[in-house]
Formats: sequence, structure tokens, C-alpha cells
Amino acid sequence: MISKKIQDALNKQINAEFYSSYFYLSMSAYFESEDLQGFSQWFRVQANEEYAHAMKIFDYISQIGGEVKLMEIKGPKTDWGSFLEVFQDTFEHEQKVTKSINELLDLSITEKDHATVNFLQWFVSEQIEEEATAQQIVKKMEMIGDSKSGLFMLDRELGSRVAQ
Ligand code: FEO
Repeated sequence: MISKKIQDALNKQINAEFYSSYFYLSMSAYFESEDLQGFSQWFRVQANEEYAHAMKIFDYISQIGGEVKLMEIKGPKTDWGSFLEVFQDTFEHEQKVTKSINELLDLSITEKDHATVNFLQWFVSEQIEEEATAQQIVKKMEMIGDSKSGLFMLDRELGSRVAQ
């Protein structure tokens, strides 16, 4: 059986993952309006992944006999000063998500909830990948600078991302 403390923390994480999905979907819309369909596609896939993260926790809570409680999702940022800023925000956001996963893990350890400690391992690994990917794109964007052809090439590369 799940403790109230862990259940509340997991429900909070569901909300954070749905917010991430919303945040990335907003970035997808932004790039769509800037005619960068590849970047837009990349963020759409990212948004779907975040939705899947939320549902993974949703299913886990149900599986262990807990109660899922959905909360209000705050509105995301809708405009950016530059294309680079979007990816900087992505990297920064993923670092925040990693922090909240780590806090959730710390709480599960304190509460001696071994099942949840085990469940969260997948998220720990996932965050390493998420942060690394976002950081790589920030570096590429910095290299590209004002080059239109560089931007065009990266748009093509990111546009090839498909849902897993
Ligand atoms: Fe669900 Fe990008 O962390």
C-alpha cells in the first residue's frame, strides 16, 4: 500500500509531466508559426513523450492501489526572443524535472517505499538522456549562430524525430 505522502508527491509529478507536455507543445506551436516544421515536429514528439511519462505514473499509482488526483495545469510560455532561447529553456526545464525526480526518490527512500524507489529508476535514467539531448541541441544552436543554412540543416535533422 502506498503512503499518503508518496501518493501526493506522485500526483504532483503527474502534474509536472503534463505541464512539460504542455510547455513543449507550446514550443511546437511557436516553431510552426516561424515556419520551422522540423523543430516543431521535434517538440511535438517531445510533448507526446512527456504525456507518456505522466501516464506511466498514473498507471503506477493505480497498480499499487493508490488514487490518482489530477490538478490544474498552469499555462506555458508562448513566445520566445530567439530560437536559441527555446532550447535553453528546454535544457533548464529538464534540469528542474531531474531535481523533482531526485526529490521524489529521496522521499521514497526516507519512507522506505522500495516499490516506488524501484519504479523511479526508469525516470532517473530517462532524465540523463533528456538533459544530454537538450544540451547537445543548445550547443549546436550556439555553433550555428546566425547561419541560415545551419538552421535549415538542423531543422531537417530534428524533423526526422519520430515517436518511440
Ligand atoms: Fe518527463 Fe522531460 O521529463
